[in-house]
Amino acid sequence: MSEEKDKKVQDGTTISRRSFIKGVGTGVVAATVAPTSLVEKAEAQQSIDELPGVTEATISLNINGRTYKVKVESRTTLLSVLRDAIDVNGERIDLTGTKQICDRGECGGCTVLMDGKSVYSCMILAIDAQGKEITTIESLAEGDKLHPIQEAFIEHDALQCGFCTPGFVMSAKALLNENPDPTLEEVKRGLAGNLCRCGAYPRIFEAVQAAAKRMRV
Ligand code: FES
Ligand code: FES
Repeated sequence: MSEEKDKKVQDGTTISRRSFIKGVGTGVVAATVAPTSLVEKAEAQQSIDELPGVTEATISLNINGRTYKVKVESRTTLLSVLRDAIDVNGERIDLTGTKQICDRGECGGCTVLMDGKSVYSCMILAIDAQGKEITTIESLAEGDKLHPIQEAFIEHDALQCGFCTPGFVMSAKALLNENPDPTLEEVKRGLAGNLCRCGAYPRIFEAVQAAAKRMRV
């Protein structure tokens, strides 16, 4: 790591993924060869603590057009920042419309847009979201005016428990950004990364096609 980068890390202003991985990787190697006696273990622990590995840093994220500065660990996901992080001014970000369901990239409940593309926020490290435009479900409505996709979900009764709905809406937004007039098959493919345990799929697909029609007018 260059001296300049080291300084940035110590200042807590920025961190690259490479730095995190380097630090964590070095720690793992040191831990693997740690001796067994308690004294030796203590010495090994001390030397691990002195390694240039980074466990926490302050990063900036652009979420819904606003910049948030948050302290994160190397393992912190974007989802966890959106829902639980407190920014450096003491304000909770509190964007809980993005749902944490499986937390392992299987259900799509945590879908947000990153530079316009849909991603599972539970599978994105917060540090990797630096410099990207993050869009969450909270930014779709304008005041009391819902986004056409949200309106269509309500009009077509495209939900039961509603837990999967924000993820579906965000995937639909990403789809319609790229393809304003999708066929039913294209809608199904565009939403294939989202699961609905209530089985509301037919109405969800209908709603997305209706929203597409409305947005084309
Ligand atoms: S919570 Fe992220 S994919 Fe399920
Ligand atoms: S509406 Fe309940 S999981 Fe989809």
